[in-house]
Amino acid sequence: MQIETTRVAVIGAGYMGGGIAQTLTKAGAQCILIDQTPESARQGHARVIEQARDFEAKGYFPAGSAADIESRLTWSGDLASAVADADLIFEVVYEDLDVKIDVLTRIEQFARPDAIIASNTSAIPIGAMAEALTKPERFFGIHWFNPAQLLPGVEIIPAALSDRSLVPGLIELLTAAGKEPAVVPDTPGFVCNRLQFALFKEAALMVEEGEVTAEQIDTVVKASFGFRLALYGPFAVADMAGLDVYANSYKSLEKALGERFTVPDSLRERVEAGDLGIKSGGGYLGLNEDEAKRLIGARDNAYVALAALRRELASTPS
Ligand SMILES: NC(=O)c1ccc[n+]([C@@H]2O[C@H](COP(=O)([O-])OP(=O)(O)OC[C@H]3O[C@@H](n4cnc5c(N)ncnc54)[C@H](O)[C@@H]3O)[C@@H](O)[C@H]2O)c1
Repeated sequence: MQIETTRVAVIGAGYMGGGIAQTLTKAGAQCILIDQTPESARQGHARVIEQARDFEAKGYFPAGSAADIESRLTWSGDLASAVADADLIFEVVYEDLDVKIDVLTRIEQFARPDAIIASNTSAIPIGAMAEALTKPERFFGIHWFNPAQLLPGVEIIPAALSDRSLVPGLIELLTAAGKEPAVVPDTPGFVCNRLQFALFKEAALMVEEGEVTAEQIDTVVKASFGFRLALYGPFAVADMAGLDVYANSYKSLEKALGERFTVPDSLRERVEAGDLGIKSGGGYLGLNEDEAKRLIGARDNAYVALAALRRELASTPS
């Protein structure tokens, strides 16, 4: 999908819908914003334009971006006519299955048969919404992260009946908009939110147990494994740390905290087979010796740069 020739409709002109519309128009798409009432669509449009001007003034967006966005972004109070011309339609309304199904079925009623419809749901199964549609093959989850105009990641989530031949076009469009799309399965929470909410639950539990405060946890996380996660996923981190170290740590945690900290089967099997991560060659990412050396070199360089950026940000008045 060529972004310059793609007409987008965004239903839900709130926080995420505004960010999605801003990102896509900045990169060249034409976009129309719709909300529950004409007034809320107009307000959403005004917010996007005002924020784009602010971001340009602060140097976050290149010069001319706000004018480009303004020239490509419109709003409407009429869903039927707004979606009728669109090639790609984003549903970005409240996180409620009934509300989403109501909006999605209305979108489908007025959209072109060849339009692609996408939901930005955080955690509702894509398949549960697809069931309500007459053309589930044209429907996907496309999950952006907050704030959509600044975070690179986007999850593309085909459901069981989604037409997979449409995925390369979606990747092309999102990449042209400066994103790093990843195709992920329609499993609970997809990839990001299952992991993000698992971490949050454990952190909340620690605070509820009363031994540690929210502030202490945030201080530790952002300076330790959160620092690493800015650059590497959990498997690269584990491979670099040593899988034997991980397995032994799980054993101690399991003794104190029980079954939810049992050594994961795949980790136990690797360690039993002598695969300790990059120090033995292999690991979850299967890096050979040369690749492992390059990873460590790049990591050290990146950590020095990231530490410098953190110091710079900490000393910049907000
Ligand atoms: N906020 C986040 O961090 C975040 C991140 C990723 C995904 N999401 C998902 O994005 C979606 C929107 O979240 P948000 O944070 O932008 O919420 P929001 O409340 O800022 O915006 C929702 C918008 O939808 C509009 N709306 C509600 N019902 C509608 C209808 N029937 N027709 C047209 N418009 C309607 C509301 O008026 C509002 O402007 C949710 O599914 C949410 O889970 C949110």
